[in-house]
Amino acid sequence: MDNAEKISSENRIVVRVPGTSANCGSGFDCLGLAVTIYNDLDLTLLEDERLIIESSGEGAETIPADEKNIVWKSARLVLERANLAEKFKGAIIRMENHVPMSRGLGSSAAAIVAGLFAANEIIGKPFNKNELLKFATEIEGHPDNVAPAIFGGFTVSVVDKGLVQTFSFLPKNKFKLVVAVPNFHLSTRTARQVLPKTVPLKDAIFNISRASMLVAALIEGKEKFLASAFDDALHQPYRKNLVPGMSEVFDAAKRAGALGVALSGAGPCLIAFSAANKHIENEIATEMVQAFKKNDVQADALILNLDTRGAYVIGN
Ligand code: HSE
Repeated sequence: MDNAEKISSENRIVVRVPGTSANCGSGFDCLGLAVTIYNDLDLTLLEDERLIIESSGEGAETIPADEKNIVWKSARLVLERANLAEKFKGAIIRMENHVPMSRGLGSSAAAIVAGLFAANEIIGKPFNKNELLKFATEIEGHPDNVAPAIFGGFTVSVVDKGLVQTFSFLPKNKFKLVVAVPNFHLSTRTARQVLPKTVPLKDAIFNISRASMLVAALIEGKEKFLASAFDDALHQPYRKNLVPGMSEVFDAAKRAGALGVALSGAGPCLIAFSAANKHIENEIATEMVQAFKKNDVQADALILNLDTRGAYVIGN
């Protein structure tokens, strides 16, 4: 059966995609995790050229409603790779977004994965999740947000000659994830421009050792090995000036009992890892928000869990 025959009569699907937090401190551009905050996409593929795009929720007023829309671009990529771009020239895209935009919680990855995943479902799933991961990484440029958005859980990703391999697992440790969300945007582009082209060998060793320790400790559930595992020398020190109060918020979270704290993705959100059985996530959230306030930054706090599922279909 060719792809065209497999197309459902409705050509419509609704999918849910989690937000994500990349890097986890030491795992710059390779570690990530999915969090329990979601964007929903209701996608209908059309055979004519109409493109109807409606968004509600986070950043709705800033989301392009034309060919530049990232959900549409991603859906188009799947259609092109499946040789169906001539059949489906238009779409109705309805988005309900809860992931804050340009704050380091993977809003662009969620949009990319939603477009790829939904289009792939409608045309009869010609691509598996690994192939969608490759497409998503092509669009996003790095895999650390798109991988957990697709697979859920905690992810380790390697890119080798354009191929992406992701290992997704559920840590033995149970965490509450406290995210301090400052009231300003920071584009990944800006946050990458401040990074150096090369780094000292000692900084590379600093991160390799911690990122390895982080993954090992999470797989085995060994909390005591987490103490320095989130620390980073490759990107956070260079980005600190883009997020006023970052060091103070880190210190405040640790003083309140967080196991570790990191810049979430490229920021400006900061994410603290709190042992779920300690029930101290509210205190950590309060301390982080207050530390931001002392630096004249208004911030809200989200208390989230690890999403274990990744992108999934919620209806059609
Ligand atoms: N790893 C990326 C960065 C995540 O830190 O620049 C941002 O999307």
